[in-house]
Amino acid sequence: MTDERIVEARGVTHAYVPGRPTLSGASLDVRRGEFVAIVGENGSGKTTLARHLNALIPLQAGELTVAGIDAADHGRVWELRRICGMVFQNPENQFVSSVVGEDVAFGPRNFGASEGAARRVALEALASVGLPGFERRDVHELSGGQQQRVALAGVLASEPDVIVLDEATSMIDPRGRDELVAAVRRARVERGATIIWITHDMELAARADRVVVMRAGEVVAEGAPERVLTDRELLSSAGLEPPLVVRTWGELVRRGVASGPAPVTVEGLVSLLCS
Ligand SMILES: Nc1ncnc2c1ncn2[C@@H]1O[C@H](COP(=O)(O)OP(=O)(O)O)[C@@H](O)[C@H]1O
Ligand SMILES: [Mg+2]
Repeated sequence: MTDERIVEARGVTHAYVPGRPTLSGASLDVRRGEFVAIVGENGSGKTTLARHLNALIPLQAGELTVAGIDAADHGRVWELRRICGMVFQNPENQFVSSVVGEDVAFGPRNFGASEGAARRVALEALASVGLPGFERRDVHELSGGQQQRVALAGVLASEPDVIVLDEATSMIDPRGRDELVAAVRRARVERGATIIWITHDMELAARADRVVVMRAGEVVAEGAPERVLTDRELLSSAGLEPPLVVRTWGELVRRGVASGPAPVTVEGLVSLLCS
C-alpha cells in the first residue's frame, strides 16, 4: 500500500429525485493498494457512491477523483472506466457477449491486447475464479453465482487499478466467497490493485484493511476492522450487526470464559482460544 490517495471523494451528493438526496455529502479516501470494505444497511447509498466511481452517474455536487481523473470530466470517462473496474450484484446486465470466454476477453481486447493474449488472460482469469473450462459456455445457462464469477473474471482480466465489488458474491456460498476473496487478493498482491468491496457480509468486511460505514447517504465511520466491527453501538446505529465471531466472543466474555478485545475473524478467534 502507498500513501497515494487513489480515490478522493469530497461531499459527493446525489438525488435521483430532486429534493430527496440518496447521497448527502459522502467523503471517502482510499489509498493505492488498500482493501476497503464498505458496509451499511439497504438504502444507505453504497451503490450510488460506487456508480460515481466510474462515472456511471454524473456528479451533481461535491468532488471526486480516481487516480487523479476528475469524475466530472466527460472527456475522460473511458480512461476512468479502464482504471476502475466494477462488479455488480446483478451481473446479467454486465455481459457484452453470451459466450463466457468472449465476455471475459472483451476487456483486454478493448484495451488493446492481441486476440491470443486476451484469450490467455481470459482463461487464467476464469481459472482464478473457480471456472476453468467454462470458456465455451453460454452465460445465460449459468447459475447466478457462476455469473457473478464470470463478471469478476472479466474485471480481473482487464487489470484495472481499482476493483469495485458491489455485493458481488451475494449468490455465492461462504466457501466460494473465500475463493473469490483469494482471487481478488492476488490481483492486489501481484499488481498492487486497490479493492473497494461493498458487502453485507461482516465476515468478509473483517478481512479488509479498513471498514467504512455508511448511513443515510454519508460515510459516518471508518477504521480498522478490529475497531469498527467490535463497536456494537456504531454498527447498530447504522442498522448493522457485528460479525458472528464478535457476537460469540461477547457471549464468552459474559460467561466469564474469555476476556479482552474481541477477534473479528474465525482465525483470530481460534488463535485466541488456543493461546
Ligand atoms: N435509479 C434510481 N432511481 C431512483 N431512486 C433510486 C435509484 N437507485 C437507487 N435509488 C434510491 O436510492 C436509495 C439508496 O440506494 P443505493 O445507493 O442503492 O443504496 P444501497 O446500495 O446502500 O442499498 C434507495 O432508497 C433507492 O430507492
Ligand atoms: Mg446497493
